[in-house]
Amino acid sequence: MARAPCLLLLLLPLLRVSADTPEPCEVDDEDVRCACNFSGSQPDWSEAFQCIGSVEVEIRGGGHSLEPFLKRAEGYSDPRQYADTIKALRVRRLTVGAARVPARLLLGVLRVLGYSRLKELTLEDLEVTGTAPPPPLEAAGPALSTLRLRNVSWATGGSWLAELQPWLKPGLKVLTVADAHSLALSCEQVRTFPALTTLDLSDNPGLGERGLTAALCPHKFPALQNLALRNTGLQTPTAACAALAAAGVQPHRLDLSRNSLGAPANPSAAGCTWPSTLNSLNLSFAGLQQVPKGLPAKLSVLDLSYNRLNREPRPEELPKVDNLTLDGNPFLVPEASKPQEHSMNSGVVPARAPSPLSVGMSGTLVLLQGVRAFA
Ligand SMILES: *[C@@H]1O[C@H](CO)[C@@H](O)[C@H](O)[C@H]1NC(C)=O
Ligand SMILES: *[C@@H]1O[C@H](CO)[C@@H](O)[C@H](O)[C@H]1NC(C)=O
Ligand SMILES: *[C@@H]1O[C@H](CO)[C@@H](O)[C@H](O)[C@H]1NC(C)=O
Ligand SMILES: *[C@@H]1O[C@H](CO)[C@@H](O)[C@H](O)[C@H]1NC(C)=O
Repeated sequence: MARAPCLLLLLLPLLRVSADTPEPCEVDDEDVRCACNFSGSQPDWSEAFQCIGSVEVEIRGGGHSLEPFLKRAEGYSDPRQYADTIKALRVRRLTVGAARVPARLLLGVLRVLGYSRLKELTLEDLEVTGTAPPPPLEAAGPALSTLRLRNVSWATGGSWLAELQPWLKPGLKVLTVADAHSLALSCEQVRTFPALTTLDLSDNPGLGERGLTAALCPHKFPALQNLALRNTGLQTPTAACAALAAAGVQPHRLDLSRNSLGAPANPSAAGCTWPSTLNSLNLSFAGLQQVPKGLPAKLSVLDLSYNRLNREPRPEELPKVDNLTLDGNPFLVPEASKPQEHSMNSGVVPARAPSPLSVGMSGTLVLLQGVRAFA
């Protein structure tokens, strides 16, 4: 055991510091969660050894460059040497954030984690530098179910997904990419994700319709059921429909909430056919003044809450829906607490009495709309 090298050996002290720096790592009493924040100017990376028995590990690099670890990592050229040690790690969830990391180091660590039982990996606020090593001959990395990336930039731009993918076993189910620097993926290099059921591209406000078309690699997500596109700069539901059609993506649930979908529909996209699989559509917080035309003819769930509908939609304006949510629309809010911009032509009477819930929410609604007015 004494000589068994392991992943965390990479973290052996490169830099030693005086004892007056605060402890970077905290482990809970049950040794389940361990979090390190190496924010000091000369962190003692060996503190990360405390996490060796934890199930959930979070390591933040304080914005430091991890370049010095690269040589060390490359010393362990054959990961089979320490497979047993890695297999003994309890880690199931790992978060790595706030660092500059060479692509070769990141992918090398993934290869090593191929011997672990890691299920969920989150990368946050990372700058990935340099070029990727050639892909392994067979899938070498961890059998992740979930991969989340937020604010990760790659020196190689849009080919990042194609470079990362061969270092993961093919069973990935959930992929989340927020605050991406490039979602113009090199789709021809991306392989199929045979088990991916959830793709969440929310919180990429610069994406828009064209960006979405570039991000949804055609026919690479055959098992997709949930597609989340909250806050992605989309302007009409039809634009989303067109991007889905172009990519041959057939989700069951589509979340378009928190986009400003009130723009008039682009005539060139009119007539877009929604996937027949689609049964749940979220159009909440979308600034809609009327129900968009051309929605799927039948849905199980349609969420139109927190829009700007001034009257109750007429049945012919709506798809056939089992579960319709209209909370937080002005027509449900009593006249007195209605914000000025939404007071309507006098002849229109609210279609039905406001529910106690919507009355309770009206204060929040006024606030939200006030915030929007200044946004
Ligand atoms: C890490 O430490 C820095 C500096 O003390 C702090 O600003 C930051 O919020 C911490 N990050 C986390 C995730 O706790
Ligand atoms: C994104 O990550 C970089 C490090 O790569 C960091 O400097 C920047 O502050 C992060 N941005 C946000 C909005 O957190
Ligand atoms: C729709 O999206 C909103 C905002 O993102 C969320 O709060 C709500 O729970 C979603 N509705 C459904 C039915 O999932
Ligand atoms: C309607 O959908 C929401 C969100 O999916 C769910 O929480 C709620 O239970 C559903 N209601 C009915 C009556 O099916």
